[in-house]
Amino acid sequence: MKSICKSFPGVKALDDVHFSIHRGEVVGLLGENGAGKSTLMKILSGIYTPDSGEIQFEGKNVTLNGPKQSQNMGISIIHQELNLLPHLTVAENIFIQSLPKKGLKLDRKKLFSEAQKLLDDLGFDIDSRSLVEDLTVGTQQMVEIAKALSFQSKVIIMDEPTSAITEQEAAKLFQIIKTLKEKGIGIVYISHRMEEIYEICDRVVVLRDGCNAGEGDSKELSPEQIVNMLAGREMSQIYPERAKEHGDRVVLEVKEFTRKGTFEDISFQLYEGEILGFSGLMGSGRTEVMESIFGSTSINSGQMWIENQEVKIKSTRDAIKYGLALVPEDRRHQGMVGEFTVTQNITLSTLKKFSGFLQKVNFRKERETAESYISQLKIKTPSGDTVISNLSGGNQQKAIIAKWLESKPKILILDEPTRGIDIGAKSEIYQIMLELAAKGTSIIMISSELPEVIGISDRILVMASGKITGEFKKEEATPEKIMLCATKGV
Ligand SMILES: Nc1ncnc2c1ncn2[C@@H]1O[C@H](COP(=O)(O)OP(=O)(O)OP(=O)(O)O)[C@@H](O)[C@H]1O
Ligand SMILES: [Mg+2]
Repeated sequence: MKSICKSFPGVKALDDVHFSIHRGEVVGLLGENGAGKSTLMKILSGIYTPDSGEIQFEGKNVTLNGPKQSQNMGISIIHQELNLLPHLTVAENIFIQSLPKKGLKLDRKKLFSEAQKLLDDLGFDIDSRSLVEDLTVGTQQMVEIAKALSFQSKVIIMDEPTSAITEQEAAKLFQIIKTLKEKGIGIVYISHRMEEIYEICDRVVVLRDGCNAGEGDSKELSPEQIVNMLAGREMSQIYPERAKEHGDRVVLEVKEFTRKGTFEDISFQLYEGEILGFSGLMGSGRTEVMESIFGSTSINSGQMWIENQEVKIKSTRDAIKYGLALVPEDRRHQGMVGEFTVTQNITLSTLKKFSGFLQKVNFRKERETAESYISQLKIKTPSGDTVISNLSGGNQQKAIIAKWLESKPKILILDEPTRGIDIGAKSEIYQIMLELAAKGTSIIMISSELPEVIGISDRILVMASGKITGEFKKEEATPEKIMLCATKGV
């Protein structure tokens, strides 16, 4: 790709960018949220047309008119935003563009058996007959991966493929990447996780504000050099120091929460101003426990107290009334209104605060609040009036988190809060979490990133197969100890 330029209203997303990939090479494409990574790759996969620039494939100039053409040429993409059709089965999603037919009718037997074979060969434990809507985000991501691998590709683009899967599944994916590489397939790998880049990439290419900011052999670049290219500045400490110890008053107590087949006997206490980390593998039941505390799903047995008062939360409305807030894992579907502006999304859950006499919204105040989050979290957007779905993936995440931070709940539950967010903005989110905690908000954070859980929590509970299998104070937690508990009985 040579001299690629692409503008959207109010943003120059790519400015004279060059990019290349060889047979059998794994190239890490890096950059902060909004740097232009997905846009560049959407151009390569025929989804966007560049304003100017040239693309050569196997030595020939090509014009890519649409994704189909790009795919036929041998370029496939695993999208950052999951693109599956929720009401169809896994198998139908995988073969959507070339469904096997028997005469004019769909050959269901062949469809399911071929899809199952593909999944089994990849070592993915997924039933090809399941409906996509019944799968967790992580499993959906694995279906996307299987789908991209079902084409005869020469170049496979993976846009943050590990953002929702566990370390174990990621290890499986890396194994697959190695095999693909040996077959001569080129892989573009987008990720915000530095360790992964070192593990699998031969070369890294860094974008910053839509321009090339540097590239090099991954073995020859130090993490500091890469971070410097990413941000154009030195990064100080990622995990901010905790200024104040948490209180000793119990704010939330959960006792023997059980939902048959999902989790069992979950008991814990949460203190005022505490940050309690929930670690574990995907599918260990963490999200489900939080959903039941928040009243979006029910339990078979168990009790719960908020500030020493027994409460029975039957709906999310009850939960909000008791001062709970939950930032869901699947933020794109559960957390935002795509056609609303950034400002409207940030102030969505707190509109009441901005409404005065006769429910009239105070637009000035609404705007000021949104602006302060936009600058604090460095949300990259032309303005607060931009429609949120036009933001880059990571910047959408930041806006949705801002919404919940603004609701200033008594108990804030965050499910994988920094997934897909660049290092700089992660640090800002940690800072805000600490500030909220210092003001007395109690926080539960589910995170699959061990350095993050250890770096930010006061205390860590580990779950495996629906049970709590370990508890550590910040000082005693190590990645090894946590992993040991996380894999107990798995
Ligand atoms: N369809 C669109 N309409 C308007 N602006 C867009 C559109 N797609 C991307 N942009 C803008 O282009 C810029 C680059 O976005 P892009 O999605 O390529 O970033 P990214 O590097 O993939 O970031 P992230 O790490 O957050 O996924 C951003 O400022 C984004 O808001
Ligand atoms: Mg992106």
